Amino acid sequence: MASANDSVNEHEKELVGWFYPPDKLKSEAYVSSMDQYKETYQKSIDDPASFWGDIANEFHWKIPPNQEKFMDFNFDTRKGNVSIKWMEGAVTNISYNMLDRNVEKGLGDNVAFYWEGNFPGDSKQITYRELLSEVCKFANVLKDKGIKKGDRIAIYMPMINELVVAMLACARIGAVHSIVFGGFSAESLAERILDSKCRILITADGSYRGKKLINLKEISDEAIGMCKEEGFVVESCIVVQHVSRGADNGNSDPPVAKRPCPEVPTHFDDVHGIDCWWHDVMSSVSDQCDPCWTDAEDPLFMLYTSGSTGKPKGVLHTVGGYMIYTATTFKYTFDYHPGEVYWCTADIGWITGHSYITYGPLANGATNVLFEGTPFYPDSGRFWDVVDKYNVSKFYTAPTAIRALMKFGKSVVKKSSRKSLKVLGTVGEPINPEAWLWYYHTVGDAQCAIVDTYWQTETGGHVITSLPGATPMRPGAASFPFFGVVPAIVDEHGNELEGPCEGFLVMKQPWPGIARTIYGDHERFERVYFSKFPGYYTTGDGCKRDSNGYYWITGRTDDCMNVSGHLLSTAQVESALVEHDAVTEAAVVSCPHKEKGEGIYCFTTLMEGVEFNEQLKNELKQKVRTKIGPFATPDIIQNAPGLPKTRSGKIMRRVLRHVAKNDKNIGDTTTMADSSVVDTLFENRPNVN
Ligand code: WTA
Repeated sequence: MASANDSVNEHEKELVGWFYPPDKLKSEAYVSSMDQYKETYQKSIDDPASFWGDIANEFHWKIPPNQEKFMDFNFDTRKGNVSIKWMEGAVTNISYNMLDRNVEKGLGDNVAFYWEGNFPGDSKQITYRELLSEVCKFANVLKDKGIKKGDRIAIYMPMINELVVAMLACARIGAVHSIVFGGFSAESLAERILDSKCRILITADGSYRGKKLINLKEISDEAIGMCKEEGFVVESCIVVQHVSRGADNGNSDPPVAKRPCPEVPTHFDDVHGIDCWWHDVMSSVSDQCDPCWTDAEDPLFMLYTSGSTGKPKGVLHTVGGYMIYTATTFKYTFDYHPGEVYWCTADIGWITGHSYITYGPLANGATNVLFEGTPFYPDSGRFWDVVDKYNVSKFYTAPTAIRALMKFGKSVVKKSSRKSLKVLGTVGEPINPEAWLWYYHTVGDAQCAIVDTYWQTETGGHVITSLPGATPMRPGAASFPFFGVVPAIVDEHGNELEGPCEGFLVMKQPWPGIARTIYGDHERFERVYFSKFPGYYTTGDGCKRDSNGYYWITGRTDDCMNVSGHLLSTAQVESALVEHDAVTEAAVVSCPHKEKGEGIYCFTTLMEGVEFNEQLKNELKQKVRTKIGPFATPDIIQNAPGLPKTRSGKIMRRVLRHVAKNDKNIGDTTTMADSSVVDTLFENRPNVN
């Protein structure tokens, strides 16, 4: 165990300290000791077919998985194409397993979702039986529109029940959903629709985030227009009347008409002649829809994630493996027991929402909170008010939200009871110990276990995480591999390192939830994830292992930035900046940021004679917002008359990261063509940190 130096104060001791699962949690946990974890883990590695086969047996299969041929994979490009298959030949339907199976088990009247709107007082609930009926109806709508198995459907929606209905309706008929986060711009939405040729776009009239109205329908129209210009016709746009319909239960507070926010448009032009309202098409369809029986290896959904080049990757997940993996990780990581209320604050537009709002919880018959709003509206106590309102016992959020709430102080949190809380989860980026301790003490009153869940869009579910009843916690450590996951840390030559070490995090064998390909570009899948270290899946993250075997994620090792838990590629932002006429060259790096974890620091070289001023900076920020979306807005833009380059002309981002951090210790500069540019950059650095 770590020994704290006596000379450090209590607080510093805690930063390197150990925290133990609360006894009450331990006594009821599925996994209640490290010995039990180790034993189960070993079983999952020694005999994956039997371990996952037992779990698969809890689901409904038209044709059950073949134990003999349970999984098959090749991670090594030297031996042939990369391929990953789990339970191929087995036949099931994931919406059947999420809904019909739970209704048959007697959970039909259990609440699947408590919907909590942006405005306190806007709320409603939907049971498993009701959800099944809505899903069947919408599946019939899609069928009426000619949608067949394998067709792609784009979804650009706020956090409302209809979003879950749309996902599961796609899954019911074997269509592949491609959800685009509501914070993406029209251009980003169009790019994603075009890449996978989505036949239908499902959206809503709009959504409030705090007092801000996001006009999803207008953005959708613009995106559909952009697709048309590229020669691709979206056949139909189905629009949920959400904001213009007002509150669902009539008791909204303040009343819709008196809300402190922009007027909601109630009329939309059908600019492309393809629109229909969700409630219209839903009014005349049957609520019975036989599921389409799909192979375990049929595609379930794709979700775009940033790559090191500007073009996003459509990460593809398949039905069977994803189903059993999200179900299992949800159950064990949150130690979810029937009857408990669970709340994940992520947006379904990201993988966290896919796996831990929709699929994982529903597979367990769980009761979920679906939250439309933000942590700060109407005030920064909203999260804790909602926790109390629904008696949430398992709560899952991101370090960026925790850091943003910390600055409002303890008193806001202490106004709430939070007595129901048992497990607090974190995801999206490494959590700094300060934020961890605040989460533990202030939010959890030192009564809860914290689970730091490390995973990726590509991993489908948690791959390194603590388990709440078993793992002694260390602030900032993702801890240990989940069942079935075999991580390794390699050096830059691909040699596996033993014992305590630091290097690149890779995985040696597949677990059921790993992505199968990049939609339409398997070669890119192999290149991005399997070529740097042949024979391994490369995560792109750096990692340390300590003397106790704990894994600590240290951050991205490629040209990706993790801004508020959202991955962005530097290339994506650079290409937006150079689209501005005034910019000849741009280089983007991440910089430390108090709340976002990493901020976006841009260096721009301007055309001769162009003045670098506030107006230009604003235009450049606007360019990035339009091209990618508001969440990618640059934090700092610095004028860079020259950029540090190698003699062969490559921009040295490593050096720029030092400028961004104001760290003059830039190390070896012998390969730099002209080192005087660095001095100029330090001199002209805006006074920010
Ligand atoms: C980072 C989000 C440290 C990591 C689920 C990863 C984390 C990227 C953690 C994936 C964590 C996620 N500790 N880093 N607990 N969770 N990350 O695809 O860099 O949006 O590669 O999936 O987030 O981001 P993605």
